[in-house]
Amino acid sequence: MQAAAGYAPHGTETGAEPGQGLATRFTDPGVPAHVHRLTDIDRKAAKRAERQVSFLFLLSFLGTVLFVVAYFAFPLTSGENLVYSRLLTGLGLAMALFFIGAGAVHWAKKLMPDDEVVEERHVVASSDEDRAEAAEVLRQGGEATGFGRRKMIWGSLTASLGALGIPAVVSLRDTWIRGDAPPPYEIISETLWQEGTRLVTDPAGLPIRADEVAIGSVVHVLPEGLEEDSAEGEVLNEKAKASVLLMRLEVEEILSEKEQEWGYNGIVAYSKICTHMGCPVALYEQQTHHLLCPCHQSTFDVTEDAKVIFGPAARPLPQLAISVDEEGYLVARQPFQEPVGPSFWERG
Ligand code: FES
Repeated sequence: MQAAAGYAPHGTETGAEPGQGLATRFTDPGVPAHVHRLTDIDRKAAKRAERQVSFLFLLSFLGTVLFVVAYFAFPLTSGENLVYSRLLTGLGLAMALFFIGAGAVHWAKKLMPDDEVVEERHVVASSDEDRAEAAEVLRQGGEATGFGRRKMIWGSLTASLGALGIPAVVSLRDTWIRGDAPPPYEIISETLWQEGTRLVTDPAGLPIRADEVAIGSVVHVLPEGLEEDSAEGEVLNEKAKASVLLMRLEVEEILSEKEQEWGYNGIVAYSKICTHMGCPVALYEQQTHHLLCPCHQSTFDVTEDAKVIFGPAARPLPQLAISVDEEGYLVARQPFQEPVGPSFWERG
């Protein structure tokens, strides 16, 4: 490294003919002469800058003090305290961060060393000898592997590398070749819910009396007899499709006539499978009557047909019409009237 040279006149032409390369038409202008800062040549200015930097750091310190004092002076015991606490702690923290940054920048610009240096670029390309040597090493390495002579190894290696792509193709084939399997629309249209199927708690499997469902409660529900009705190995699939959330609201809180009609005395049942990508919608905000899907935050309004009020889901959660049997237990009045779960498949 060397210190910067003095200023050379800018872009002196050498009088070369038009069409000659730039490298021959212009001389190197060099770097401009270094301009010293006032603080480098004036001790008073340097002292002043030092005081300014210290002042900025002091403001940062005061911001931290403000934060600590506000934190303890306004315990979060009332709404008014909450406002002052948030305002003053936020202000204190902002001051502390801003002024420490401003002080550091001011310090660097005014007082830290201001030397300019030039680092000459070394030649990047290797010498001809080095390149020839590298080529020779590669050639010898290639010979040592015997690829040129051992045709059988070469052929089998090529075949095995080519075959490596096959597992990906095979495992993805189900996305477009479905054989005898019914289309997805049909699969998600049929669940174990039928007219008269009792609602039972998940996982205890206990039937639910309508008069025991408290207002504001939410119950995870499955169709009775899920284990027996499902073919072996199908239980999880059926459970995934038939899972339902049961909630009880005040009747007047339900804004939709259809929802009231399909519910029972303020008790409503909705598919638990998110209509976006099928995650379980399991978070119920009792105060707002919103159901939230934790995967991508789709939010459904239980007071109005579980319509989507936020997030990527494209349609409401399907409602299960319910009633009570002669013993007072909740039962389904009919199967789901639309497919449950994700909406990205083609629907009839
Ligand atoms: S799966 Fe529910 S929002 Fe995406």
